Amino acid sequence: MRSVVLGVGGYLPERVLTNAELAATVDTSDEWIQQRTGIRQRHIAAKGEVTSDLGIAAAKAALADAKIDAHGIDLIVVATATPDNTFPATAVTIQAALGITRGAAFDLQAVCSGFIFALATADAMLASGRFHRALVIGAETFSRILDWTDRTTCVLFGDGAGAVVLERQEQPGTREDRGIITAHLRSDGRHKSKLYVDGGPSSTQTVGHVRMEGREVFRHAVGMITDVIEDAFLATGYGPGDIDWFIPHQANRRIIDASAQKLGIAPNKVITTVDRHGNTSAASIPLALSVAAGEGRLKPGDLLLLEAMGGGFTWGSVLLRW
Ligand code: ACO
Repeated sequence: MRSVVLGVGGYLPERVLTNAELAATVDTSDEWIQQRTGIRQRHIAAKGEVTSDLGIAAAKAALADAKIDAHGIDLIVVATATPDNTFPATAVTIQAALGITRGAAFDLQAVCSGFIFALATADAMLASGRFHRALVIGAETFSRILDWTDRTTCVLFGDGAGAVVLERQEQPGTREDRGIITAHLRSDGRHKSKLYVDGGPSSTQTVGHVRMEGREVFRHAVGMITDVIEDAFLATGYGPGDIDWFIPHQANRRIIDASAQKLGIAPNKVITTVDRHGNTSAASIPLALSVAAGEGRLKPGDLLLLEAMGGGFTWGSVLLRW
């Protein structure tokens, strides 16, 4: 059995916020942001536009790409750290908007690693045989939890959503089979104070803002990312030379380049969208997938390596044949 990607879609809010515009409100510059992060611009949700709106648009695009009717979906997993409400889950809002009344829908919270954790979870649930077709969505409105006076964080993030349709398919079990081959997840809560939101329903009864020790996050990122990718290589016998496309979480150009270089993956195999999207947390990988697919770069049978690292820390990798 393999969980096969039938379609992918993305959605970005219309409003684009450039580095130059940010430099007019906080003490920063286009040059500093581009040099340290590779980010040129990010999209920002309109007033009243919430995470589920972004997720619904991305889900519809993925369903259209898969040529699947929404009623064919029996599992929705939404990775988000910026849900519409504390509860119910953003996933049930998306489920209702799509007119789906069967199966299960829930949110999953692993911050920037959320999409990798959601893919791994959906894959395991499809493998159980109890579900047949899943929508796996990463959707975020980080603009709502940024401290717009803090230049060390507000320049890094953007809003957006991406989604894939996954289907359980019986496969002969060869190396050429399409679908998710392996997924590796890790967490280490000792690092939780390095990247967190200083609020929440149980602690402060407020939403709070993103707080980060940027240099500390950077210091751990490349090692953690490459470690969990080595897990995937060890489990499967694949290596860097087999990868057709490396699709990392889009946090920072320097982290992406350093990870690819440490692994020995050629720059022309790396999909990068951080320049246009900023860090959209759980949405960044499915958005990058939808951009790469839209450009016709991903061919059926290509071997894709996805990875992410984020608050917690959480980190993980997924190896899949497109
Ligand atoms: N504009 C101008 N100057 C700034 C800005 C800014 N936006 N932000 C910080 N600075 C200043 C600092 O105040 C500091 O000034 P000082 O030397 O006078 O004290 C100087 O720039 C250097 O600051 P550092 O924090 O050391 O800069 P660094 O080179 O580490 O870059 C950055 C900061 C970009 C945040 C980097 O540490 C980083 O990318 N870390 C990873 C964080 C990340 O990607 N987080 C995303 C979430 S986690 C994830 O998705 C993996």
